[in-house]
Amino acid sequence: MIILEEKKFNVLIADNIAKEGVDILRDNKNINVEINTDIGHEELLEKIGSFDAMIVRSRTKINRELVNKAKKLKVVTRAGTGYDNIDLDVCNEHGIVVLITPLGNANAVVELTLGLMIDASRHISNANLSMCKGKWEKKNLKGTELKNKTVGIIGLGRIGAGVAKRCKAFEMNVIAYDKFIPKDRADDLGVTLYNDLIDVLKLSDYVTIHLPLTPQTTDLIGETELREMKPNAVIINVARGGVVNEEALYKVLEENVIAGACIDVYSHEPADPKEYPFIGLSNCLTTPHLGANTVEAQINVAKLAAEHTIQALNSKIFIDAVNIPFKLTEDMADLYRPYMLLGSHLGKFLGQYNEERIQEVAIKYKSNLLKNNFEPIKAVILQTLFESRFMDTITYMNIDSILEENGIELEIGEYDKYINFENYIKVYIKTENTETKIAGTVFIERPKIVEINGLFFDFEPADYMLVIENIDKPGVIGNLGTFLGEKGINIAGMQLGRKEKGSEAIAVISIDDRPTPDDLNELKKLPNVLEIHLISL
Ligand code: 3PG
Repeated sequence: MIILEEKKFNVLIADNIAKEGVDILRDNKNINVEINTDIGHEELLEKIGSFDAMIVRSRTKINRELVNKAKKLKVVTRAGTGYDNIDLDVCNEHGIVVLITPLGNANAVVELTLGLMIDASRHISNANLSMCKGKWEKKNLKGTELKNKTVGIIGLGRIGAGVAKRCKAFEMNVIAYDKFIPKDRADDLGVTLYNDLIDVLKLSDYVTIHLPLTPQTTDLIGETELREMKPNAVIINVARGGVVNEEALYKVLEENVIAGACIDVYSHEPADPKEYPFIGLSNCLTTPHLGANTVEAQINVAKLAAEHTIQALNSKIFIDAVNIPFKLTEDMADLYRPYMLLGSHLGKFLGQYNEERIQEVAIKYKSNLLKNNFEPIKAVILQTLFESRFMDTITYMNIDSILEENGIELEIGEYDKYINFENYIKVYIKTENTETKIAGTVFIERPKIVEINGLFFDFEPADYMLVIENIDKPGVIGNLGTFLGEKGINIAGMQLGRKEKGSEAIAVISIDDRPTPDDLNELKKLPNVLEIHLISL
């Protein structure tokens, strides 16, 4: 009799998770667990080759150097919500599935937000410090109340909505800025939705951030935005360092432009006060990334992380995967790779080109290969299209249900008109006032964009692109080139598309560096320029 050896998976727990999760892994007969929660990057590079899965929090960085050495790695599970410590592109390239556990710790983050709001308005921490110094400072520690004040919630996803409900209980006026959620959802929560971030900043006594860190949300609130806030206002960031520009924050706190800030998250953690001089200012309350740091949340996320990792390894069921949830054979994966990249470029491009609330999406394709299984491409297009909208967590697994819940219509089908490309993918979105479409093809394994809103192009998408809608008149492109040159921004490539002489045209300029928001505002003012979009991939 031949006894087949049972397959065992090696799982590394690289960050501290609760014992309840460790026990689930230890009790599974197919899993060997190694716990090394102090492991440094160098040691990890040496050891990673033997692991099938890793469980991490935000401390361990999963970058290209590490993934290149991770020859057996199939699953990375983040025991938590934010996954900005994981390079998703490189995991996609290697077919590594990334799982998160967003259900486990949202409540903990909501409660910390309220705790900080109350602390800031009643000076609880400052009072304690003063008492510890033997003082009795009633006069200096007069507070203000939450009741009847306005709180502006930036990002009304799961955590933002939880904050809204608690603030309602405190009889506050709740307003929000969120580019994704439908008005009906905000109405149900009793929240007034604004389309302009500045309006929310101007009106709020408390501004609280509940967005993931993405290229679109990095420095979302900089000096200009902070200076729009009321002088009595307090800003709270328990989401991610970098959504509020940290240098600008220090400046406005030092100048007392706003009353205060409560900061739990930093671009570099553990945070060094030398890097973040707002730590220690009397109008700034700082905590060491405690958002999810409750007994309950840590047990929840550890259990979910363990269960989801086991399921992913044993049965290829990928719960809360933020990337590819489908199994392609290795050969198929190689064939699909350029189309996955094209899908991701089309989704990201369109999502940033038209930032209005999407009501309908249609995807049409022509391809003998993709006809067999369009699911991976559909998933990548939808995930990248909606990721730049402000939702807390969009995954490949939940995108269909999110669209359904939000009443967004989706149509997928083969492209039925004649088109002179062997393979072709076209994505259309409809918003209340506009329809935008973009098409691409894969040529010699490289994704190319071939159409934007009925105008024809032929370019490989770059990391940064300026898409300029303009009137086709002499001098426009020259002015753009001069302006970018003066700002030291190198032009890597340029494509022009127009219907006829003198009509509306589109220029796509690939650039090597990201222009600042001020640069974009100045560009918009150039003669015959109608609109400027910055696209980053
Ligand atoms: C999260 O993204 O889940 C929270 O910010 C918690 O992060 P942590 O697990 O590193 O504490």
